[in-house]
Amino acid sequence: MGKFNRYLITAALPYANGPVHIGHLAGCYLPADIYVRYLRAKKADVKFVCGTDEHGVPITIKAMKENVSPQDVVDKYHKIIGDSFAAMGISFDIFSRTSNQLHHQTSQDFFLKMYKDGLFEERESEQFFDPEKEMFLADRYIIGTCPNCGNDKAYGDQCERCGRTLSPDELINPHSALSNAPLVKKKTKHWYMPLQNYEPWLKEYIIDGHKEWKNNVYGQCKSWLDSGLQSRAMTRDSNWGIKVPLPDAEGKVLYVWFDAPIGYISATKELTEDWASYWCKEDTKLVHFIGKDNIVFHCIIFPAMLKAHGGFVVPDNVPANEFLNIEGEKVSTSRNWAVWVNDYIQDFPDQQDVLRYVLCATAPETKDNDFTWKDFQDRNNNELVAVFGNFINRALVLMHKLCGGKVPPLHEKYMEEADREMLNEFAVAKEKIETSLENYRFREALSEVMEFARKGNQYLQKCEPWILASVLEKLKAGEPNIKHPQYEGKNEEYLQARIDISLHICLQMSANLAIFSEPFLPFTAKRICHLLKVVDRMLEWDNAGSTKLLSVGYTLRAPELLFKKIEDEQVKAQVEKLHAGLKQAMDAAAAAAPAAVEVPVTPAKPEIQYDDFAKLDLRVGTILEAEKVPKADKLLKLLVDIGTEKRTVVSGIAMHFAPEDIVGKQVTLVANLAPRKMRGIESQGMILMAEDNGKLVFVNPSEAVKAGSGVS
Ligand code: MF3
Ligand code: ZN
Repeated sequence: MGKFNRYLITAALPYANGPVHIGHLAGCYLPADIYVRYLRAKKADVKFVCGTDEHGVPITIKAMKENVSPQDVVDKYHKIIGDSFAAMGISFDIFSRTSNQLHHQTSQDFFLKMYKDGLFEERESEQFFDPEKEMFLADRYIIGTCPNCGNDKAYGDQCERCGRTLSPDELINPHSALSNAPLVKKKTKHWYMPLQNYEPWLKEYIIDGHKEWKNNVYGQCKSWLDSGLQSRAMTRDSNWGIKVPLPDAEGKVLYVWFDAPIGYISATKELTEDWASYWCKEDTKLVHFIGKDNIVFHCIIFPAMLKAHGGFVVPDNVPANEFLNIEGEKVSTSRNWAVWVNDYIQDFPDQQDVLRYVLCATAPETKDNDFTWKDFQDRNNNELVAVFGNFINRALVLMHKLCGGKVPPLHEKYMEEADREMLNEFAVAKEKIETSLENYRFREALSEVMEFARKGNQYLQKCEPWILASVLEKLKAGEPNIKHPQYEGKNEEYLQARIDISLHICLQMSANLAIFSEPFLPFTAKRICHLLKVVDRMLEWDNAGSTKLLSVGYTLRAPELLFKKIEDEQVKAQVEKLHAGLKQAMDAAAAAAPAAVEVPVTPAKPEIQYDDFAKLDLRVGTILEAEKVPKADKLLKLLVDIGTEKRTVVSGIAMHFAPEDIVGKQVTLVANLAPRKMRGIESQGMILMAEDNGKLVFVNPSEAVKAGSGVS
């Protein structure tokens, strides 16, 4: 650990505008908790802080939709989110909230210090204002016609149809997504942070200084820094948030991404009087656990703020995860396509570790990954039940049956090569797990834990103490041993010694499994301690790898199963629940007012003549290749075979399809659309899509046809 004497670990502050789902857990809270539990087991000086992010547009929108006050929204979800984390064993030292007075004060002081040091640029600009709602609108809540493709439901930041990045000014007929009212322009003043001034320092800090960061994180930072930073407004017009602490700032609040990360500081202040040691001393290791959508804020903007303010340490690492999809589809809270943590806890009480296990084993550490209920069942039944639980259970059952309920001795004289090999594995396993954890490779660490249990099972299978016991019984009864010639001529002392040795080793392994698994499966580790009648102190990491955790002659408890099978019906019920949730959300959206943000209705277009239609050259093509367009989140570059030739098409569908999933699919192409350059790539056609409440599907023939077939 070298230069660090204390740790400050943060997990992204979730917006208090809805419950948390398993994607949140897998993305940041679980890995953070695993890391912290490991550090605590090492007796490191560590603080683990989190809380709810209670400002910003997402909160005000939710309040508007539910017709309650923003305060009601954040109060409700602060509690629901906090309860979910607690139930899942996410062991924050503090779970605070950004609506706290202390946080308001801390953020305002931070802003003022920067202001007094002359670090903001004051700028006036014209912004879109919704006269009906009497508010300035964030880009996402401005809707209008795309100048590029004519989509009349383009957002102020992007057209989802053609993928073009937009600014609200480019929209034709901009109107409010909230009230539908046409927008007016109004002058407004804001305070900008010239991020470009911090570029040289950021490059030194990240590009030269943190080459060890995960590829996905380092790569994103590099691309931001390569394309050049710009001034960014650190204030907003809103009546919900932290007031800008300046005299001429009526109706202005701090930008939510300015105040939220300062929430880490406020939460630490709330936790301990010694907060400054964690934030200001250079020997603190500050680590931010986040999801990939937060990378720029934690790697660039917040460090620049800390640097600008001065006196703070900056993050040593930001191990961001990618996204977890559910049953092959992107999580969508508006479509209710998610597994909510509070639901899980209700449906699977006392099975928190199963979810922790599955989420860690499938964590999207290096790329997006998929959660399926079938995989959940398989991993529980084939790994937790059949390998981990089974091993500890067998060791305990056999020990009770064959060794009188006490830890048997290790008879040196009768030890064999396989025993010594197994004992050597203890320290090796510890080292492997440790290395993986230190490098934020939690999946790998967990698989090493399982590997240790697997080896235990193999060892036990090889020692077969139950066979030794039956031979011993025959011997004692004076009957011949015909069935097991491998033990021909062995005496009672030998047989009992071999039984003792094998179970002694398996029990010591079980104790080690408690220590190894604690960061991942804390509830299970506690139960193992109970069975082995050891105090929790045994779980200290120093004890890991020891072959002498349990003393000979010590009485252990009767075994209890650590994991139970998950049945097919349970899986089926969960999958049905997902689909029912989706349908409910869709029905509710359809029933809601047409102005609802998520469900724009497609209005009828004016009548056309046949000749208008006949101008379109529509053809069926087959996608031959698909790849992401660098630095354009929404764009895919496709190569489409239309029989006579191959066309390159750039399509704004990257948020909806993984490139590898669409190769080979048939699509309908508008083949005579004038070519257009997007991100430097010439797009030679447009692919027809159907949109169902934000979900895109290809329009293609109901049966496969030859590439190039005409459509009329
Ligand atoms: N609320 C943000 C989100 O859910 C995360 C905020 S992290 C913080 O994406 F650093 F700003 F607190
Ligand atoms: Zn468009």
